[in-house]
Amino acid sequence: MSDKSWGGRFDQDLDAQAAAFSASVDVDKRLYPQDIRGSIAHARMLGARGIISNEDVERIVGGLSQLAKEGEAGTLVWDPAREDVHMNLEATLTERIGEAGARLHTARSRNDQVATDMRMWTRDACIATTGRIDQMLGVLALRARSTVEVLMPGYTHLQRAQPVRLAHHVLAWSEMLERDRSRLLDAARRMNLSPLGSGALAATTFPLDREMTAKELGFDGVTRNSLDAVGDRDFLVETVACLANCAIHLSRIAEELVLWSSQEFGFVQMSDAFTTGSSMMPQKKNPDMAELVRGKCGRVVGDLVALMVMLKGLPLAYNRDMQEDKPPVFDAFDTVDASLTVLAGSIGSARFDAARMHKALGEGFVDATEVADYLASKGVPFRNAHHVAGRLVRRALDKGTTLSGLSLDELKAEHPAFEQDVYRALDPETAIERRNLPGGPARSMVLAEITALRQRLQTRGLDLAALATRFSVRTEP
Ligand code: ARG
Repeated sequence: MSDKSWGGRFDQDLDAQAAAFSASVDVDKRLYPQDIRGSIAHARMLGARGIISNEDVERIVGGLSQLAKEGEAGTLVWDPAREDVHMNLEATLTERIGEAGARLHTARSRNDQVATDMRMWTRDACIATTGRIDQMLGVLALRARSTVEVLMPGYTHLQRAQPVRLAHHVLAWSEMLERDRSRLLDAARRMNLSPLGSGALAATTFPLDREMTAKELGFDGVTRNSLDAVGDRDFLVETVACLANCAIHLSRIAEELVLWSSQEFGFVQMSDAFTTGSSMMPQKKNPDMAELVRGKCGRVVGDLVALMVMLKGLPLAYNRDMQEDKPPVFDAFDTVDASLTVLAGSIGSARFDAARMHKALGEGFVDATEVADYLASKGVPFRNAHHVAGRLVRRALDKGTTLSGLSLDELKAEHPAFEQDVYRALDPETAIERRNLPGGPARSMVLAEITALRQRLQTRGLDLAALATRFSVRTEP
């Protein structure tokens, strides 16, 4: 006898290989809290509409609440022969409470059930991940505060370009993550409509109260088309695209930490808690956590591709292919969540080397733009000024010195407009302070951005003091 819940049409059990190939409970059991919540809401609504009796509702709700407790305690037993989380829960419930359990699936299909579960799970996961992003932002706000006075070369093409404050660089990281955060919230808002009542594809003949279940499950409303509600997973593509963007940002930040902790740069020392040694080379201290954040980004991008390719070419409405949505979605969230936590710890505890950064400022002609700007402000057309500055860089290179190492006579030899005050303009601190536009690296601008970031985080309920302790955030550079 077959154990299939669609049993009537079938005499034969599913082939063992086919059963193993199609079972998803190992993965989708993670949806059990959403599935139980959804079933309780559905049962109550069926009761409210007189579709099942109040006694049945009570038995169902009691049985499901018990299953939820067992889920929390980790004692729920999952049977791959029962295919997925939905059939496992329903079968266990029915074993325990009898016929009432078999009434739960009235006016519902696993197609609208799983679409509902995934929207709830993903919505909540988006919100939880924004919380983790906020923690990372908190760490960045604290580190920005401790590095306002640290000057470093900013880079383009990985060539030393112009001086900036380290805090300005740290705040650039925070901007990337702020956008990731808002994209996730936007995705969560767009997906937050209830598919329940869409049935298998064409809704149902029963007079369901869709608004009631939607409200009970925290949705903002109900979906407008039953075929679309069960037949699309674009909300998952969108979410994982947001996560991929975030993973790419984390990977780029991680790459900078890897570069900066090399002996060539020497800009940062990662703490022992976030580095490892080598089994062969005793001198090594490897930034493995940052490297892994960089490496794991590939998984998240892969998760996005897997989802998009799975969807491409599917006719409406539900197709079993869609069961393959769960592994990439779960993996993308797990990877980004863990990366955020590990990177926040790495950055919080890292020791920035202000002296090394300052030394690098003296070596890369990062003041060449100042020379050009200086001449331009004296009325020399910028293109000509740029040319003069370039010749001076050549001259300094030939002499084995820096721009400020050239005498006033040498400067005047290239252009008569140079005066003694040019040397002050070459000072990196001056160069930075003169860039006091909104979005610029001057102290006042950076401090204002730090304050604004802290205020945003405070409005979101983040406790910066607790965060500082939890991530052992350094107060020195
Ligand atoms: N485990 C399935 C999934 O995740 C549930 C929906 C199954 N529907 C069906 N018609 N076989 O997609």
